[in-house]
Parts: sequence; structure tokens; C-alpha cells
Amino acid sequence: MKSILLIYRTDTGFTKKYADWIAEKIPCKMVLLDEIGQLDMASFDVIIYGAGIHAGHIKGLKDFKESIEALDKKKPVIAFATGGAPYTEAIFSKIKANNFPPNEQNDIAFFYFESGINYEKMGLLDKAIMKSYNKVLSLKNNKSEVEKGTSQAISSSYDHCDIENIIPLVEYVRNL
Ligand SMILES: Cc1cc2nc3c(=O)[nH]c(=O)nc-3n(C[C@H](O)[C@H](O)[C@H](O)COP(=O)(O)O)c2cc1C
Repeated sequence: MKSILLIYRTDTGFTKKYADWIAEKIPCKMVLLDEIGQLDMASFDVIIYGAGIHAGHIKGLKDFKESIEALDKKKPVIAFATGGAPYTEAIFSKIKANNFPPNEQNDIAFFYFESGINYEKMGLLDKAIMKSYNKVLSLKNNKSEVEKGTSQAISSSYDHCDIENIIPLVEYVRNL
């Protein structure tokens, strides 16, 4: 049985929800990104990292990448991101290209899960960013279909998390 470490970062709880679902299907040790200093990461066979997306970037990914730099390059590393955008091939490819440039890809297998927006749990700065983004979108003339959808989606909290979304990641880990 492989020992699996699941590291996550969450601001409004969506990534924690997905991490809990993954941990129900795959026995693993679950820790917050802030807590990894206390761990011997080399002692785990598989490492998974999950976090939300912030303006196209996976939160905490830079710190996570630094933390695995010294590990055996053959150790399987998996990353998943949660985001308010629905899953499409185009969105998946864009997030992957933004966060895992080919020269430093380091063989990290990547998965994307649609989540939602939670204004009740969001910090003040993030709330202000979302508010001004919403304002920019609402003032824009000739909005594209995507912009119309985004404008509508981010106007209030929603939760599109679905346990079915984790199946490809769970299968991938089980096949390692
Ligand atoms: C300021 C801000 C920027 C965001 N940018 C994106 C984005 O670029 N793409 C996306 O799909 N979701 C975006 N989101 C939505 C979050 O990625 C989503 O709510 C995520 O699941 C949060 O994870 P957490 O609750 O675990 O922190 C953004 C949310 C905030 C507050």
C-alpha cells in the first residue's frame, strides 16, 4: 500500500471539500500547506497538492514546487486546482499552461475541479477584487458569451462542487 500525502491550501473551503472527498476514497495523510515544514515529505510514496485558482494562478503553488525540489524526481506528484469556472478543455489547458510551463513541468499530473464562489468566507481584499472585476464586466459594452456568463456567475455565491469530479484523480492515484 502506497503512503500518500495530500497537501492543500484553502481560503473559502472549496479545496478542503474536495480534499476531504479525495481522502474518503484514498487513504492518505492530509495537511495544510502551512504545516509541511513539520513533515518528512521524502517518506511518502505519492504527493498530492490542491488549492484554489486566483486570477489564473494556483494559490501556494510556488511554495509547493519549492518544497518538492529536493525530492526524488521519480516520486509521483499530482496537483489539482479548484476554480469558479466550469470545466472545459480550453479552460483546463489554459490553467495548466499558466501554472506548469513545459520547462519546469516536473511530471506533475494535473486535474481541475469546478467549485464556486463564497462571498461569506472571502477575505476583504478578495471581495474588493471581485467587486471591481464585476463592475468592469458590467460596464463593458458588447460582452462575449463567456463574459456574460462570468458576470452572472460572480454576482453572488454559488457552489458547483461535485464528488464525481474527483474520479479521474482517484483512478490515476490507484493506478500508480
Ligand atoms: C479574487 C479571486 C480571483 C479568482 N480567480 C479565479 C480564476 O481566475 N479562475 C477561476 O476559475 N476561479 C477563480 N476564483 C474562484 C476560486 O478559484 C474558487 O472559489 C476556489 O475554489 C477557491 O478555493 P478555496 O475556497 O479552497 O480557497 C477566484 C476567486 C477570487 C476570490
